[in-house]
Amino acid sequence: MGDDTADTARTFDDASDTFDLLTETVWGPAGRTLAFQLGLGPGDTVLDACCGAGASALPAAAAVGPSGRVHGVDISSDLLEKARLIAEAQALQNVDFVCADVTTWEAPSDIPAEGYDALAISYGVFFLPDMHRAFARLVGLVRHGGRVGVTVWREGAMAEYAQVVFDVASRFNLDLAERGSLRARTPLGEIDTPRTFEAWMADAGTHSVDVRVLSNLLPATDELCWNLVTGTGYRAALNGLDDEEIAAVRRGIADEVTTRGIHTIDFTTLVGTATVRRPPTAASAHLTQSRA
Ligand SMILES: C[S@@+](CC[C@H](N)C(=O)[O-])C[C@H]1O[C@@H](n2cnc3c(N)ncnc32)[C@H](O)[C@@H]1O
Repeated sequence: MGDDTADTARTFDDASDTFDLLTETVWGPAGRTLAFQLGLGPGDTVLDACCGAGASALPAAAAVGPSGRVHGVDISSDLLEKARLIAEAQALQNVDFVCADVTTWEAPSDIPAEGYDALAISYGVFFLPDMHRAFARLVGLVRHGGRVGVTVWREGAMAEYAQVVFDVASRFNLDLAERGSLRARTPLGEIDTPRTFEAWMADAGTHSVDVRVLSNLLPATDELCWNLVTGTGYRAALNGLDDEEIAAVRRGIADEVTTRGIHTIDFTTLVGTATVRRPPTAASAHLTQSRA
């Protein structure tokens, strides 16, 4: 695991104490929509990469039923522990939550050699180092004709509020000021419009790409604003700050939200699904020729 991935794991472990406070309004709607759009059926096998606390893995497990299997893979052991507890509470026995780096994940032997029936990645792909290569590799774990689904923030989502967090936290956190905002450090901006997202999914070896816009505007209450700092990747903005400084960041954010007249936070999300196209192997090409 590289340094960046280890940092990401630490950030989401730290965020795990409040991550779930955003499940009902943010992670959950996208995760359920993704599982639905994948068109999962009983008996399907699913890889949920960057599964977190299971926002898409758990509805996927419900959809594939007892004869299906879901592998939820994430590098945050604390978030996975939350996911396991929810699965237990929902009596779902067909989902395994595994702590691993998805960029090196190999399908275990309980998955047919042709690959998974579906891959889901909700709000995770842009954290992967070398995102394009990592995504193409994950698509390669899905069988020909299988389904792939990804969610990402739409262009502009959370932008105004993220700027507030960055402006206020970087007064206290000089490392943050130097490294730049989370958005500036990830390749999300390359795939955050329906057009660029669709082209990117097709480039990774899929066809029939369908991109839906899931609008999600939430009132910018003090509670939501703070949960968004402590329960997401923004948590890294608080690294190295003591309790007094953290309290000052919270006050500073509340003041800036008022000063800048921010009344809502935009969580609008792109939900992309597609079908995997595997290039014909030498053996299948020969078969096609001899049948012609
Ligand atoms: C914003 S959270 C989304 C979690 C979940 N999919 C959801 O929608 O609630 C991003 C997740 O990606 C995970 N992640 C980032 N890089 C990863 C990697 N290389 N391997 C596995 N998980 C990774 C993080 O640990 C985190 O749980």
